[in-house]
Amino acid sequence: DIFVVTTGKEMVDFITDYLETIRKRRVFPDVKPGYMRHLLPESAPINGEDWNTIFADIERVIMPGVTHWQSPYMHAYFPALNSPASILGDMLSDAIGSLGFTWASSPACTELEIIVMDWLAKMIGLPDDFLHSKSPTNGGGVIQTTASESTFVALLAARTEAILRIKAENCMEELDDAEINSRLVAYCSDQAHSSVEKAGLIGLVKMRYIESDDKLSLRGDKLIEAIKHDRDRGLIPFYICVTLGTTGACAFDNLLEIGPIAKNEEIWIHVDAAYAGTAFICPEFRKWMDGIEYVQSLAFNPSKWMLTHFDCTAMWVRNSSALHRTFNVEPLYLKHENSGQRLAMDFMHWQISLSKKFRSLKLWFVIRNYGIKGLQLHVRKGVKLASAFEELIRNDSRFELPVERHLGLVVFRLKGNNELTECLLKKLNSSGRLHCVPASLKGTLAMDFMHWQISLSKKFRSLKLWFVIRNYGIKGLQLHVRKGVKLASAFEELIRSDSRFELPVERHLGLVVFRLKGHNELTECLLKKLNSSGRLHCVPASLKGTYVIRFTVTSLQTTIADIQRDFAIIKETATTVLKTYGIPENRISRAIPLAEIKKRTPGFGTSLLLSNSPMTPKIINASFVAIFDQQDLAQEFVRHFGKHMDLTGNSNPSLRRRIKGLMLTDKQHRQNKPTKDWDLECEKYSLLKLFEWYTLT
Ligand SMILES: Cc1ncc(COP(=O)(O)O)c(C=O)c1O
Repeated sequence: DIFVVTTGKEMVDFITDYLETIRKRRVFPDVKPGYMRHLLPESAPINGEDWNTIFADIERVIMPGVTHWQSPYMHAYFPALNSPASILGDMLSDAIGSLGFTWASSPACTELEIIVMDWLAKMIGLPDDFLHSKSPTNGGGVIQTTASESTFVALLAARTEAILRIKAENCMEELDDAEINSRLVAYCSDQAHSSVEKAGLIGLVKMRYIESDDKLSLRGDKLIEAIKHDRDRGLIPFYICVTLGTTGACAFDNLLEIGPIAKNEEIWIHVDAAYAGTAFICPEFRKWMDGIEYVQSLAFNPSKWMLTHFDCTAMWVRNSSALHRTFNVEPLYLKHENSGQRLAMDFMHWQISLSKKFRSLKLWFVIRNYGIKGLQLHVRKGVKLASAFEELIRNDSRFELPVERHLGLVVFRLKGNNELTECLLKKLNSSGRLHCVPASLKGTLAMDFMHWQISLSKKFRSLKLWFVIRNYGIKGLQLHVRKGVKLASAFEELIRSDSRFELPVERHLGLVVFRLKGHNELTECLLKKLNSSGRLHCVPASLKGTYVIRFTVTSLQTTIADIQRDFAIIKETATTVLKTYGIPENRISRAIPLAEIKKRTPGFGTSLLLSNSPMTPKIINASFVAIFDQQDLAQEFVRHFGKHMDLTGNSNPSLRRRIKGLMLTDKQHRQNKPTKDWDLECEKYSLLKLFEWYTLT
């Protein structure tokens, strides 16, 4: 611990000093590709290295190759600012180290994200539809890793919606998704970021680049032309990415013109405001958001201009059901008691990855530390400085400003042919005194893009990996792995020593899978009691229908004494569970077959209810059951049908198709109510059950 305190303080001092004296460093490094190879050994150290040796390598190995993004002389790309509040937020998040994929995986992580995303939505003037707390349409915000990922997520959600709609409209359930996909077409301007192109590439949809006007803005008339052209060829327009603040020149597409067209054509509008979004904190810059009422999703990067360092992209959707329908998979080990409740949101259904960092913490620190006023001041200062630079350029007749300046980006060139400006930039960058990047307006951007991932940006993640490998050494890491496996093996032995438990599968590495002998409900109850005690935390898994508890050795601090303590708690809780079920300690009950249940209770009409919680499918005494894939479906159902149960005619056929009435024992109903239109009758009853369930919960 003394090591952590002293090295931690040393690192904080280093960071403070680095940021304070950053003007002294070359902003752009003077190194050649591969410079690091001869500074480092080819393989990792066998034994852990002394921290001071590692620390000294920061200046020797790392700093010579760093482009200093926090330098006042950095004018390339867009900002990627940090701030003390943001760094401290991430330090705390890293120390807590929880992963917030479900509400239960770390409730604070999910709940803070919901609240902070609502704060941020109000700060930039988004309509209530995008607020978790107010949205009548299941809308809300989520923190994604990057703007590129958000564009892709929105495209996938739009694709799901389009495919569902087309199937429903044409009453062609049997139509192949891939066939519809092949006819989908998406739009963006010729100034859109390369990540839009990438989204189309990996989403396997056609992307149409529409020519922008002379102010580099995408206009309604050109969009109408493109849509007409595509419709005439049998294509289906489904998505448009509107850029507010393009990368090349910070130009703004005309959302007010595009909005009504997209609405008319049932096209999903995603707004990419990666850089400019921060400016919307100031009301005077919100004019570019006119038309926001037509937008389905929007993303901007607090990790660019809003002093909250990478990664942090704020994304909002008007209706999260589309994301759920796109990303929803729910294995048992990710379910929790509160799954499906609106207040226990599982953000894993809002993104591509499962895991997510506690990123709202740094955002929360920044917003509270600066306040709305402080952030407005920061934006206005940036715009004022850019305007001052623009004036300087204007005052030198050798330069020209080919497009209007917006916000903090000035686009300038030397008058004459391109070569002159190209040469100027090369000389500026190689001097290391300031750093800019070029753009080709009306063409593709001359940037180095990352081709190995969905996102464009990438954190300096190898730094922590390098520190860890050197600090522990191969031997230290082997020791760590072996210790984890040994502890798991000790726990396995303890389980084996108690005949009430069983180990249904062989243990490998640090994961022990165990259960109480007998039917699933016993183990389910045991886990519930263990978790609700707060004394230890495990998750279940379903192995070919057998409910098990997964016991993983996770913490660096776990000792054999901890394992013994955990097992004592598990044993004691198992005793309570068996007592609750009236099972003598030495006789574990067997599963009761359905036939026997029926024999014991003759009036039992059985159906299968697949509910969110508890996790065991329940045999219930009811004849009609609604099976549905997500809770939002119930909400949508109530909105559409209200209390009238109007199932005649063509009321929302797509919704009706998704609700499958399952009748396992329909005998009684069939006997009592023989009807010609049997399917509709079943559907009505299923929906009725669903309605009852919804109004009760
Ligand atoms: C308009 C726009 N969209 C998307 C991006 C990509 O951002 P990210 O690195 O968060 O994917 C950028 C990057 O500068 C951008 O300017």
